[in-house]
Amino acid sequence: MVTKEKIVYGRDVFYVTSHSELLHDSSRIAEVRKNIQCGDMLIVKNVFDKKIIEQIKKYLTNVGQNSLPSYRNIEVGCPNFHRVNIWDKRSYVQACFHQFVFFPWNQDIFNLFDLVKEVYHVKNLISELPKNKFLSSEPEDGCIARLAFQFYPRGTGAMNKHCDPLDYHQLTVPILVMSKKGEDFVKGGVYVEKTDGEKIILDDIADVGDVIYFNAQTPHGVELIDPGYEIDWTSFQGRWMLLFAVNKLFNNNQIGNSVDLEI
Ligand SMILES: [Fe+2]
Repeated sequence: MVTKEKIVYGRDVFYVTSHSELLHDSSRIAEVRKNIQCGDMLIVKNVFDKKIIEQIKKYLTNVGQNSLPSYRNIEVGCPNFHRVNIWDKRSYVQACFHQFVFFPWNQDIFNLFDLVKEVYHVKNLISELPKNKFLSSEPEDGCIARLAFQFYPRGTGAMNKHCDPLDYHQLTVPILVMSKKGEDFVKGGVYVEKTDGEKIILDDIADVGDVIYFNAQTPHGVELIDPGYEIDWTSFQGRWMLLFAVNKLFNNNQIGNSVDLEI
């Protein structure tokens, strides 16, 4: 067990060229687990093809432009949905973004959970769990895998600095980079705050298609995307990412909530 004193968030960043390097090597997984427990970050390069990422963004843009957003609690069998969150006071972490959510008990046209299964396998193994945990159509231990695509519009998209729960369900919440800084947006992006207070903007050190792993307790957030830019939610110009989450069900009181560090 790693003691709190030994954790230095954002201590180091290391790169791996593919998930298969880790999936079949239990000693490598144990090494990565130790690093992430201590506050290091892992970037796996080119996990997803840019073409499929573009197709998914186009599809979600269409859904977002042509259907009404709404919110659902995470309950067994709930539909996939999308929601707009404009600094909604009911959220545990204050943020401004458009989110698209998928659950393993629903089928979708990209067969998303099959497409991304290697990421969940690595996430679970790093967290000392069986690789397929939380991926079936039934919840396990009061939790379920949940894919959350997040879109941050230019001029207004942001999320407060926060930390996510670290418990029996996860050690890390991997992120897929889906937008290119310098092309899709210019300023801001997802960041982690190191123990010494320095911010590392992950969009500056990773590329579209890369998956980033860090300790869920690392203070992190999204710095305002392109401040001053004219806001237009309908244009879907801005920054996309995907979170490979495992979430507790609505009625599970065993696991804590994310903590906003700015309020
Ligand atoms: Fe988070």
